[in-house]
Amino acid sequence: MDGKRVATLTLDDGRSIELPIMSGTIGPDVIDIHELSKLGVFTYDPAFFSTASCTSEITYIDGDAGLLYYRGYPIEQLAKHSDFLEVCYLLLNGELPDAAQKAEFGAKVASHTMVHDQMARFFTGFRRDAHPMAVMVGVVGALSAFYHDSLDITNPQHREISALRLLAKVPTIAAMAHKYHTGFPFMYPKNKFSYVENFMYMMFATPAEDYVPNPVLVRALERIFILHADHEQNASTSTVRLAGSSGANPFACIASGIAALWGPAHGGANEAALKMLEEIGDVSRVKDYVQGVKDKKYRLMGFGHRVYKNMDTRASVMRETCHEVLQELGLANDRLFKLAMELEQIALSDPYFIERKLYPNVDFYSGIVLRALGIPTNMFTVIFAVGRTIGWISQWNEMIADKGQKIGRPRQLYLGAKRRDYPVREPR
Ligand code: CMC
Repeated sequence: MDGKRVATLTLDDGRSIELPIMSGTIGPDVIDIHELSKLGVFTYDPAFFSTASCTSEITYIDGDAGLLYYRGYPIEQLAKHSDFLEVCYLLLNGELPDAAQKAEFGAKVASHTMVHDQMARFFTGFRRDAHPMAVMVGVVGALSAFYHDSLDITNPQHREISALRLLAKVPTIAAMAHKYHTGFPFMYPKNKFSYVENFMYMMFATPAEDYVPNPVLVRALERIFILHADHEQNASTSTVRLAGSSGANPFACIASGIAALWGPAHGGANEAALKMLEEIGDVSRVKDYVQGVKDKKYRLMGFGHRVYKNMDTRASVMRETCHEVLQELGLANDRLFKLAMELEQIALSDPYFIERKLYPNVDFYSGIVLRALGIPTNMFTVIFAVGRTIGWISQWNEMIADKGQKIGRPRQLYLGAKRRDYPVREPR
């Protein structure tokens, strides 16, 4: 980083301050404003349009060019050549594993896939029709009540065990949430399967039948997990970092990330996008629906992104996966897929979307793939959470390992009442 370049800020009363300009490895420069409070003023940037909240070595996005790198590796290369556990190792440790490291990491994760048996009883406290994301927030948070022996966040070994536990147990909990909702028995993990096969087994197998994972579908889910694994300082990751900055344990922090992910502007978009396609129902209604979007009656779910102002690389990979999966399942003429293609076509050529740089995002296509895999709509955001868990853990770990880390504490511009006296009333 280069601390010598400065930006000078002069207030209207003549006071001024020199603010260091920081440069990253790639990407825009950042003005370090943390000394600004010495002048008795703060910056105002609601929704963080112009604010870098931390330094990080994990993920890089260039939204204008549509680029996404994990630890320097382009996402499309990882999606093509890597598998999810390798990507997890990369995000967590900074480098790709060699064969021995990969095998050791896989074995460690596999040794943590079961949850404390008492957790099964925890589920019965939820209504059967509870949204699986509500169950995820509760049960993942409850991990901190079951694994007391890895909660010392100052201890690197505890942090490592907690990371492995989260990575291994979140899919188990996700599958349990699905089974509880549908009334089928929980399936214990089977470690002969790969990470993704095992998740599909816990989701779809029953004790009554043998289960043989379909490699094309496994690969598709593997890609969904890889594409969702991290996305720098988005709403849920920032929530995890802020919760973690107070010293809260990692299980509680990841539960807070799951809560933030749930919203339709973030991880809930894949569920909302599919519901939207179902609501449109037929290709003949696409034009009218798009008109409603332009009239600001509603938004086109699965379109637009705070950072990407170009086609998101993840969306291109997911679009390709979508074709592969539908082909494999003989669903190339799928009604919703055709409708999605028509919608994409119209939106991409319409000035409303072109002027605002609104492109389909990864969740526009991932919903169609997940539906084809047989995953119910209410589980879509849960699948996102399973994939994103490694990103949250890696970002949390990076923050805690930073010796200069302090509790996050934004300030505000107060617009409420000025000081006033309580109106003491005479007794009647
Ligand atoms: N449909 C129609 N108009 C839109 C959309 C959309 N999906 N997204 C943004 N706009 C319009 C918005 O109305 C505004 O227009 P105007 O300038 O006339 O007021 C302009 O584009 C800028 O919108 P914004 O709300 O200021 O943009 P933002 O950066 O705050 O919002 C977003 C980003 C992702 C929340 C938004 O694009 C959106 O709501 N998209 C739909 C939900 C969605 O697909 N979210 C998933 C994001 S990808 C998964 C993830 O990373 O979590």
